[in-house]
Amino acid sequence: MTDLAALDVAHAHHYLLEELENLPTAPGAPPERRRRDDGWLERWLDTCSDLARLRATNPMLDAVIEEIDGRRIRIGDHWLADFASCNYLGFDLDAEIMSSIGQHVLNWGTHPSWSRLLGSPVLYEQIEAKLTALLGAPDTLVMPTITHIHMSVIPVLAGGGTIFLDRRAHKTIFDGTKIASSNGARVQRYAHDDLEHLESLLRVAPGGPRLICMDGVNSMTGNAPDIRAFAALAREHDALLYVDDAHGFGVIGERTADEPCDWGSKGNSIVRHFGETYDNIILVGGFSKSYSSLLAFLALPTRVKNVLKIAAPPYLYSGPSPVASLATVLAGLDVNADRGDAIRRDLYEKTRRVLVRLDELGVGTPNTSGFPIIEIPLANPDQIDELGRFLFDRGIYVTLAAFPLVPRNEVGFRIQVTAANTHEEIDLLLAVLDEATERFGLARAWRPAA
Ligand SMILES: Cc1ncc(COP(=O)(O)O)c(C=O)c1O
Repeated sequence: MTDLAALDVAHAHHYLLEELENLPTAPGAPPERRRRDDGWLERWLDTCSDLARLRATNPMLDAVIEEIDGRRIRIGDHWLADFASCNYLGFDLDAEIMSSIGQHVLNWGTHPSWSRLLGSPVLYEQIEAKLTALLGAPDTLVMPTITHIHMSVIPVLAGGGTIFLDRRAHKTIFDGTKIASSNGARVQRYAHDDLEHLESLLRVAPGGPRLICMDGVNSMTGNAPDIRAFAALAREHDALLYVDDAHGFGVIGERTADEPCDWGSKGNSIVRHFGETYDNIILVGGFSKSYSSLLAFLALPTRVKNVLKIAAPPYLYSGPSPVASLATVLAGLDVNADRGDAIRRDLYEKTRRVLVRLDELGVGTPNTSGFPIIEIPLANPDQIDELGRFLFDRGIYVTLAAFPLVPRNEVGFRIQVTAANTHEEIDLLLAVLDEATERFGLARAWRPAA
């Protein structure tokens, strides 16, 4: 029997086929209006039982972090190098950004509590203007989190039409489609990153709105879909491509002659990275990774923005992001313009060091992109607990990738490199990985699907 602690799980991906039992799969099947009490909670908790066990026993999960020093963290009396941070650009520790917050708080207080529809501090207008220019998008709209956006915007965009959902899309997208489904949309899932499968579904889809929902840079594999091909397919079938690039924004950007590395320049996200326009594309991104703040955005046409301003509940009802978050974003956008490419070059080199060493050791990873998210599956998934303790004891903090955070064949751990990690921390990581390779049989544990 699973314990309720499993409900703590954050970032959970979903490989819960059972969850889909109530979703109509055939085009034209009527959506169910009301879910039966079919024991979904028991099944969900059961699915999370590995995580529940790890949470209860492993020091690498649900830790209380008492102090930080740069990218080192203290848990009890144990200092560890943190490779579980999504603060890719190190903006959380940037002196210029930290020192910019105080004056804004003095000007605005900690948290004007108006919902955005009621009124927004001018900081929002400034953020949206800078962001629109950075992305080269028609317009942008910010809301507190990506989760808020998926839950509220996917149902509005889908209406009573059809959603095509990548089977590996982030759990928060999946949850947004569930709300859309309960409002009458039809949800069809296509195999991860599989253009042909998607096309076969689009070809026979009924009329009405069509929304393709997928991730940009994947939060576990670190890989990105070919946006150019997906955008072409969307346009051909009169569909809207809805892409969550939480992990790409700030890291990858437009390709330029003077780019610091092949991740591109400016960190202006996946659409620009692939040289695409925003026609038929709604880009979703967030500031909670690279920009180390609590805010998220949509890049979208102004007419859609104006609809969402009255139809997306977080714009009407949610409290806003704290002023410190807005200030962090504004300063982060300036730092990105001034120093972002140099920071990305540094991050690229640090990431390369890890990937090159893994390659020398023969350790497999799904990461074929070179982006700073490096998942390492285990040959024997049952060793995840032991591996977590091993890394913890040696001073390395990572994300344990248990099921259902990843599919069962990818159970292992995820390393994230940030610009704030020092080369000494990476030296330690590489030494520990050398030892782990032998001890946990990491060499060639990962085989890509044929
Ligand atoms: C792909 C993806 N989408 C959405 C989220 C949630 O973002 P937010 O914290 O802004 O709700 C995450 C967080 O890990 C993510 O990885």
